[in-house]
Amino acid sequence: MSNADDLTESRQQPTDEEVLRAAQLRAELHQHIYRYNVLAAPIIADAEYDALYHELRRLEEAHPELITQDSPTQRAGSDLSEDFPKVRHPAPILSLANAYSADDLREWETRNLKLLPADTTLDYTLEPKLDGLSVVLTYENGVLTQAATRGNGILGDVVTPNIRTIRTVPLRIPARPDGPPPPERLAVRGEVMFLKPDFEALNQRQKEADLPLYMNPRNTASGTLKQKDSRITASRTLTMYTYAIVEAVGIPSGITLDKQWDMLEYLRDLGFHVPPTAALYPTLDHIIQQIPAWESRRNQLDFEIDGVVIKVNDLRAADELGVSGKDPRGAIAYKFPAQEGTTKLLDIVVNVGRTGRLNPNAILEPIYIGGVTIRNATLHNFDYVHAHDIRIGDSVVIQRSGDVIPYVVGPVVAARSGDETPILPPERCPFCQTLIEHPEGVVDYYCPNRQCPERIYRSIGFFASRGAMDIEGLGGMTVKILIEQGLIKDEGDLFFLTAEQLLPLERFAEKKVENLLNAIAAAKERPLERVLTALGIDGAGSTVSAVLAREFGSMQALANASAETLDDIPQIGTVLAQGMADWFADARNRALIDKLKSAGVNMLAQERVRHGSSLEGQSFVLTGTLPTMTRDEAAELIEAHGGKIASSVSKKTNYVVVGASPGSKADKALKLGVPILGQAELLQLIESGKTSDGSRSEQ
Ligand code: IVH
Repeated sequence: MSNADDLTESRQQPTDEEVLRAAQLRAELHQHIYRYNVLAAPIIADAEYDALYHELRRLEEAHPELITQDSPTQRAGSDLSEDFPKVRHPAPILSLANAYSADDLREWETRNLKLLPADTTLDYTLEPKLDGLSVVLTYENGVLTQAATRGNGILGDVVTPNIRTIRTVPLRIPARPDGPPPPERLAVRGEVMFLKPDFEALNQRQKEADLPLYMNPRNTASGTLKQKDSRITASRTLTMYTYAIVEAVGIPSGITLDKQWDMLEYLRDLGFHVPPTAALYPTLDHIIQQIPAWESRRNQLDFEIDGVVIKVNDLRAADELGVSGKDPRGAIAYKFPAQEGTTKLLDIVVNVGRTGRLNPNAILEPIYIGGVTIRNATLHNFDYVHAHDIRIGDSVVIQRSGDVIPYVVGPVVAARSGDETPILPPERCPFCQTLIEHPEGVVDYYCPNRQCPERIYRSIGFFASRGAMDIEGLGGMTVKILIEQGLIKDEGDLFFLTAEQLLPLERFAEKKVENLLNAIAAAKERPLERVLTALGIDGAGSTVSAVLAREFGSMQALANASAETLDDIPQIGTVLAQGMADWFADARNRALIDKLKSAGVNMLAQERVRHGSSLEGQSFVLTGTLPTMTRDEAAELIEAHGGKIASSVSKKTNYVVVGASPGSKADKALKLGVPILGQAELLQLIESGKTSDGSRSEQ
C-alpha cells in the first residue's frame, strides 16, 4: 500500500543499512525481472520475488527519498512480446496493492474512509485472487472483436485468435437468448489460467510423449496464450474467469452498474464465467472472518489462487478513491503466505516401505515456507525424478500445501552450475543389498526381499499402528529395538514376548513392560477386519477388509477362497481378488496366520445380529443419498433382515433403493422395470414383512 502521498506524516532519514538494503533489493529484483521476462528462466519462486518486491516497496514508502528512477517499483511489469501486434487498452490495466494481515486490511479501510465523506460506511466483495494472467476482451455490439494481454498496462499484445479457442470465453454476448442486452462497446477484464485437472492432463500427455513436464500452471498458461500458432493454444484447455468491466459505452437503459456485485451479476447474465465463490459482505470484519476458511479451502479448489481480492462494493466510492501509483485504492489483494520456495537439494535418502517400495526423499538446505522450516521433501518416485531431471546440487522448487508432505516440484534448470549430479535409483536395497526390481509399467522400484530388515520393521510398525491392531506403546523406536535384539522376526512374535525377555533391555522399566504386554494381549481381541487391515495385504485397507470380514465371517474361509469367489464380491475387482488369493496361497503368509491364531488372535467376524427374515431371498441395490441413514447402514439393515446387497442392477434385482442424486442405477431400474423404493418404503417393507411385491417372476 502506498503511503507515499501522505505528506503529513513526519519521516526519518533512512539509515545507512536501509540505503544499502534498498540498493541491494533493486539490483536483485532487476536480475530476477530480466531472468523471468527476457530469458524465461527464473531462478526464484514467484512468492519469493513478491517478498523482495514488497520489502523494497515498504522501504520506499517509509523513505520516499530512496526511490530511484530505475527502481522496479516505478514501472508495472510488462508481458509484451515482439510476436504480436499491440493495442492500447481503453483504460489503464491497473494492478493491486497487497495486504498480508488483518491489520493491513484495517489500515487500508481507515485510509480510505479518511478520503471519503464523513459518514460513509463501506460494504465489500470478496473474490478469489486467481493465479493466472490478466486479459482484456472487447465486444462490439455483442461480438468478441479483440482480446489483448495486460502488456505494460497501457499497451497489450493482441491475442484474439488464441483467446477464441478458450471455451469459457463467449464469442457473442449475451450467450443465452434470454440474457440481458449488452452495451454497444464493452471491454472486460479477467484472468486466463489452467484448471488443476486440465494442467495435470497436459502433463500426463507430455509424460506419455516422453517430453519434459511443465512446472507451473501460470507460466504455462502464459506460454500457451502467447503461441503464434493458435492450434497449439486450442490443444490445451485454458479457462478464463471474468471479474471487471474496463469500459462500457452505450449501456442499455434499465441496467445500472454502480456496485461491484451488480457488475459481477451482469457479467454472469451476459454469459461470462465469473469467479465462483465470490461473495458480498456488509463490513470488513465479516471479510476478515472469512479469510481463514478461504485459506483452508485453497487446496480443494479446482484452480490455483494466491490470495483473495477485496473490493469496495460501491463503484462510485471506489472511483472517488482513485489510484495510488498503479493500484486502485478501492481494491486490495490479501495474499496467502507463500507455499512455494526454492532451495538447494543437498542429497537424497531412499526409504523402503513395508511393501518393498523405494521412496526417494530430498534432504534440503532448510527453507522457511508459509510458517514452517522445511528440511526434507518427497521426490515421489524415481520415475518422477527422471521425468523432471532432478539432480543433487540443483536449486529446486519446493511446494507445501496444507498438511500434505512438502514435495519437490522440479529443478531450476537455469540456475545450474554444471556440478550437479544426476540421481539414479539404487541397484541394491540400501538395507539388505538385494537387487532392486522395477516391474514393467509401474512407476515404483521395489526391494523384493521379504526378509529385508527395513520391510519387516515397517510391516510390524504398520501392524501395531492405529487403525490396524492399535497396540499402544509399540512405536517405531520400540519395534526397532525388539528387532535388533532378535526378539521378534514377524508380527506373530509380538504375542509371544515375555516380561523376562523385555525387562533386561535398556529403558524397559517394569511399568513400561507391563503396559506393553497388556496392550499386546488386548490387541488379540481386535475385530477380524482390523486383523485383516493390519496384515497390510495390497489393496485391503479398512473398507475392503470390513467387506471381506462380513462376507467370509472367518480368516479360514477367506484364506480358502479362490480368486473367482473373491471376484464375485462387488467391492473387489479382479486384480485385487487375484492379489488376495496369491497372498493367502503364499506359505509364509499362511505360517504367519497360523502363528497369530495359535497366539489367540481373533480370527472370526462378529456374529451378525439377525433381526428377522422379512427380506429373505430378496436382492437390493442402493443408490443416492438416503434421508436419515448412510448406504452402509441401510445395507446392514437389509442384511439383518435376510436381504442381500448387490452392486449393480440386473433383471434379477428385486428392489432398487433410491436416495437423493441417484446414479445411473436408478435409470437402469426404470428401464428393466425393477421396483424402486425410497427409504420410507424400505422401512415399511421390513416392517410389514411383506415380500410378495418383491418375488418377481423371472423374465
Ligand atoms: S481486480 C482494478 N480481481 O491479480 C482491478 N484482480 O495482483 C484490479 N487478479 O493484476 C484487478 N484475481 O491480474 C482483480 N478477482 C480478481 C483477481 C485479480 C486475480 C489478478 C489481476 C491483477 C493481479 C494483482
